[in-house]
Amino acid sequence: MTIIEFPKDMKWGAATASYQIEGAVNEGGRGVSIWDTFSKTPGNVVNGDNGDVACDSYHRYKEDVQIMKELGIKVYRFSVAWPRIFPNGTGEVNKEGLEYYHNLIDELLANDIEPMCTLYHWDLPQILQDKGGWGNRETIDAFVAYAEVMFKEFSGKIKQWITLNEPWCISFLSNYIGVHAPGNKDLQLATQISHHLLVAHGKTVQKFRDLNVDGEIGIAPNTTWLEPYSNRQQDIDACNREIAWYLEWFMDPVFKGSYPQFMLDWFANKGVHLEIEDGDMEVIHQPIDFIGINYYTGHVARYKENESLLDWELVELNYERTDIGWPIFPEGFYKVLCRIKDNYGDVPIYITENGSCYNNEVENGRVKDVGRISYLEQHLTALHRAISSGVNIKGYLTWSLMDNFEWAEGYTMRFGIVHVNYRTLERTKKDSYYWFKQTIANNWFENK
Ligand code: BGC
Repeated sequence: MTIIEFPKDMKWGAATASYQIEGAVNEGGRGVSIWDTFSKTPGNVVNGDNGDVACDSYHRYKEDVQIMKELGIKVYRFSVAWPRIFPNGTGEVNKEGLEYYHNLIDELLANDIEPMCTLYHWDLPQILQDKGGWGNRETIDAFVAYAEVMFKEFSGKIKQWITLNEPWCISFLSNYIGVHAPGNKDLQLATQISHHLLVAHGKTVQKFRDLNVDGEIGIAPNTTWLEPYSNRQQDIDACNREIAWYLEWFMDPVFKGSYPQFMLDWFANKGVHLEIEDGDMEVIHQPIDFIGINYYTGHVARYKENESLLDWELVELNYERTDIGWPIFPEGFYKVLCRIKDNYGDVPIYITENGSCYNNEVENGRVKDVGRISYLEQHLTALHRAISSGVNIKGYLTWSLMDNFEWAEGYTMRFGIVHVNYRTLERTKKDSYYWFKQTIANNWFENK
């Protein structure tokens, strides 16, 4: 048995996102987002599910804040639905939208919970998508205008801001692989979008500094780890490419002002031509206050020509997997964090998402999600190893506070430490909730 004890100032938290929990899509003057359109197009989401009701957190936020308070978290990461603020993407601000977030934030603050706000967790106003979405540079300006309204309105209340959640998902998963909204399958477009997203991020950070907002701003990429099957150079290179596609492709421009050359070459070989306007790289290369890291899974892989975009294949090694089928690979969490330190130095890091899918149901009022507790133990131990290696970890926010609309998987995949009954909307705290609560209260746990 080993005691895993965290630094005294460790910030514990939980995360959610607007479309996944709010519901009330036709209330409060909200406009239509690409996820409304995408989920209502047959074939895109399992069971034809959509976020119309979700967890109904729009109406039940007070109950949800009480659940957070009892859990003992210091910080709650939520996202703002852009079409609640600008139903038409740009132009007139919807006061009711602002009011909803004021109410939520006031409730959090009254309960001593700090709000961490993600500006973009995927609800692009549909009207902007109709004009080309993130493929059109005008969306960059629309985003900065939306961010400006948010900064002015909530400065003083929100001290931590995240520009974009998971730029890899916004660009490649949604516009090349095509399983998320808007569902394009075009590598050229997706790669160009990744660049526009970074410009939008950089301009937003500039705006934040110009306005002298009291607080911190960062970005939250999703990360993964592929461990080479052998020390053959081809295996090492293939794994390195995949890791870099998520991490360095987005973070080198932010921290170093340039894309990794080997990835530019790789994309060029695939016929992708990246259009970079004069001044773009300087705009992207703005100092940020922290980086948010999302990590869920990894595995062992080896080179295989034409197998995947980046020429690798997963080596099947009888991994223990969560209910969504993702291998449990805590070693990768540790290695990703060490790689960030090697690349970018002592940048403060928040784990803005880490968690697992287990679909345990309520039995006699209880949810015995032992798999999730084990996942948390393994990943918090990996995190502790990273802290012991000098990685500058400031906080850990688990995904998710509650079960919610899991994008293309609809309501079939549950990531919450609180169970939600989608018929009655009743919340039930799972065993993992109580485990996490105890860990937060102690600031340590026993890894048996
Ligand atoms: C996203 C969440 C999602 C989670 C589990 C992350 O990619 O930010 O919105 O629910 O992973 O798939």
